[in-house]
Amino acid sequence: MSKILVTGGAGFIGSHTCVELLDAGYDIVVLDNFSNSKPEALNRIKKITGKDFKFYEADLLNLPEVEKVFEENDISAVIHFAGLKAVGESVAKPVEYYHNNITGTLMLIQAMRKHNCKKIVFSSSATVYGVDNPVPYVETMPTNTSTNPYGYTKVMIEQILKDVYVSDNDWSIVLLRYFNPIGAHKSGLIGEDPNGIPNNLFPYIAQVATGKLKELGVFGDDYDTPDGTGVRDYIHVVDLATGHLNALNYALKNKGVEAVNLGTGKGSSVFDVLHAFEKACGRELPYKIKPRRPGDIATCYADTTKAKEVLGWEAQYQLDEMAADGWNFTKNNPNGL
Ligand code: NAD
Ligand code: UFG
Repeated sequence: MSKILVTGGAGFIGSHTCVELLDAGYDIVVLDNFSNSKPEALNRIKKITGKDFKFYEADLLNLPEVEKVFEENDISAVIHFAGLKAVGESVAKPVEYYHNNITGTLMLIQAMRKHNCKKIVFSSSATVYGVDNPVPYVETMPTNTSTNPYGYTKVMIEQILKDVYVSDNDWSIVLLRYFNPIGAHKSGLIGEDPNGIPNNLFPYIAQVATGKLKELGVFGDDYDTPDGTGVRDYIHVVDLATGHLNALNYALKNKGVEAVNLGTGKGSSVFDVLHAFEKACGRELPYKIKPRRPGDIATCYADTTKAKEVLGWEAQYQLDEMAADGWNFTKNNPNGL
């Protein structure tokens, strides 16, 4: 039986997507080098689904290791999550980011091509819309700028994949532009488990709630937004995972390149997220207003029309449920996985 290869399947979004794939009856193979995840995530996926799958501890930068996966398995499509994702770290380590994300993707495409596997769903980001486009972001807007090396890896990989399709129209490529994934699986067994002090809002608030961090720093309260804090399109990670299922089904049936936003279409402010989390954990959480964070924009949310029309997908969960499920995971796993 043919299988779906999930690169980066031990990570935050990858692990939730593996659960949805297994629940939907897909046979999967996972590849990860655990550079930003732990083997326990794989055990948890098995526990939730009651299903087993093949795993390769391998680095995408190592072509023979990647080829081995294709030699030993009949892979019909790839969902490609593996990549480094910390914006600030990418500014400090641009060469490592370009090498891991871009070379890693090139190795994967080479191995796919050699084994006649031409269907890929790629983890892109709303960051490709840069700083000049007006909200809501529509897939047809220009996407050739970013504010940091991480963002440029997404811009460049999108371009590489578009060029691959131009060179060979047999390919089927879906570029999923994620907005801000938060929350966790209802079981509380998998969720976001960042190393060190979190950079992102939601995991930071979670660690304030556990008492690991003293207070939330709110990066600016003087933006042109309803309450002055930054507005983002937060999406439940399980909604994001089911979006991959729809994208995969689309890629299995159609050829071409499609960029599709995965968001809710609704913006929430830093205070909205903080208050939703306070409601979930049942107490007030301390915060302090800090200066704006360099590179941040005021508002970012998706136009979700294309996801509905092309993939037949729409987000289901609201902010309160994202906060409740995120807190459930953190409470059950205060020290991560
Ligand atoms: P994550 O770090 O939890 O997962 C990425 C996984 O890839 C990790 O398990 C890591 O060990 C693995 N990996 C990294 N480099 C690898 C390599 N060279 N070889 C093999 N494995 C490798 O991140 P995530 O939040 O699950 O994000 C998944 C993808 O989605 C990433 O490409 C990320 O850039 C993209 N994305 C994430 C967000 C977000 O806010 N989380 C937003 C937009 C896009
Ligand atoms: N924020 C705070 N305090 C914090 C962290 C964040 O106030 O400690 C604010 C930010 O200023 C922003 C909002 O919370 O207004 C969200 O910030 P995140 O860091 O959680 O998310 P970003 O929207 O900045 O970035 C995320 C991913 C990027 C991705 C981008 C667009 O981290 O990888 O979404 O998809 F590119």
